[in-house]
Amino acid sequence: MPREVITIQCGQCGNQLGYKFWEMALKEHAACNSNGWFDDSLSSYFHNVDARFCPPINLPVGDGTHPIFTLKARAVLVDMEEGVVNQLLRGNLSELFNSTQLITDISGSGNNWAHGHNFYGPKYSDTIIEKVRREAEICSSLQGFFLLHSLGGGTGSGLGSYILELLHDAYPKVFRFSASLFPSTDDDVITSPYNSVLSIGSLTQHADCVFPIENQALIDILRKKGQHKCQSSEEGRNKAPFDAMNALVSSLLLNLTSSMRFEGQLNVDLNEITTNLIPYPRLHYLISSMALFTPKGKLPWHPNQHTKLVNQVFLFSDALSKDNYLIKSNPLESVYFNCAFLLRGTPCSISDVNENIVRSSQRLNMIHWNTGGFKVGVCHQPASGIPLSLVCLANNTCIRNRLLAMKHSFNMLFRKRVYIHHYTEYMDFGMFDVCSGS
Ligand code: GTP
Ligand code: MG
Repeated sequence: MPREVITIQCGQCGNQLGYKFWEMALKEHAACNSNGWFDDSLSSYFHNVDARFCPPINLPVGDGTHPIFTLKARAVLVDMEEGVVNQLLRGNLSELFNSTQLITDISGSGNNWAHGHNFYGPKYSDTIIEKVRREAEICSSLQGFFLLHSLGGGTGSGLGSYILELLHDAYPKVFRFSASLFPSTDDDVITSPYNSVLSIGSLTQHADCVFPIENQALIDILRKKGQHKCQSSEEGRNKAPFDAMNALVSSLLLNLTSSMRFEGQLNVDLNEITTNLIPYPRLHYLISSMALFTPKGKLPWHPNQHTKLVNQVFLFSDALSKDNYLIKSNPLESVYFNCAFLLRGTPCSISDVNENIVRSSQRLNMIHWNTGGFKVGVCHQPASGIPLSLVCLANNTCIRNRLLAMKHSFNMLFRKRVYIHHYTEYMDFGMFDVCSGS
């Protein structure tokens, strides 16, 4: 019986990303189920999973026909402006979301962490915990919460931080994961340096594991794959293809949980990831990269049984390329505390995988007390349309540079004391002193 995960999508980014995630999760389960009926593996992410009640898989198509969903996402949707959530409810997946599990307000947090955290947090505290409790009560073995949010705006960052604090208090024994969209250095939200640094405090204290993701890295990956036409990074940022970017992040999230949902030679549960990759409680920022083999992709794909190892070799070197990390950084130049390889798709022998790990490990600068610190997962069920994929998760010191860059952007604004008055309307000035390190 798969263990359950409750997703909490907060703010515009969290909800748009969540929508893509649910769309892909449904496709994935539909693809793996040849008789067209939903099955037990669905129960990690969905409830009302019962073949007697579920119609055959009939995924939404673009012609406006809506399938009758009895399935419901294990999710709570939160946004302090109602536009994005209302848009989701008008979309093809509208019936997937339980109408009692939405929390919206009207005006948003105005790109202000303090407004989200100190105003909307206390205002909706009881409602949030009540809706989370309702989801938790219908789980038989709740494994974790997954917060989807950005750190750049006000709601995902401020209220998202507040939600993590609430979960820590109310469910101290349930893992709290977050997929956190870090702002790029030239983010479109001017106050994003304040919002992100203020969020980092909460993420460090109240999350068990954070997956940092950066929009610029997503755009660059898409551009290299030819899925985004803009030539320059700057042009790309201005026309951010959120749908394709969110699909990349959703692939990561689905791969992370694939072996807790499907059969495989080496299952890796979310709690094994936290145990093996987090050496100290606060050192819980895991950078991720992905290599996806699609038959139509640029990389060579060898469907022949005898060439499976060849595919794997390409896959491992691709996953370790700095171009495929979901954060702008080069882990190969920094120190790895440990590393997990989560392989998904065409069955392969564990000795082939190990051979690749030995070869790859020569490229990695592993910390001296953990030179063999590799965790391996092998799940046989491929992602929809992707016969073979590999996710590499690492606890790597390069995250320090990213956090220092964030603090530098924060101090550039703070030195001039700009925009502070918007924040001190809701919080003490002292918080800024703490964050600036002064
Ligand atoms: P307020 O609007 O201030 O109340 O907060 P919010 O949480 O709704 O803000 P939002 O999520 O829009 O945060 C802005 C940051 O998120 C910017 O860095 C955007 O580039 C990024 N962002 C917004 N939507 C998406 C999305 O769908 N996908 C990705 N990857 N990033 C997004
Ligand atoms: Mg918003």
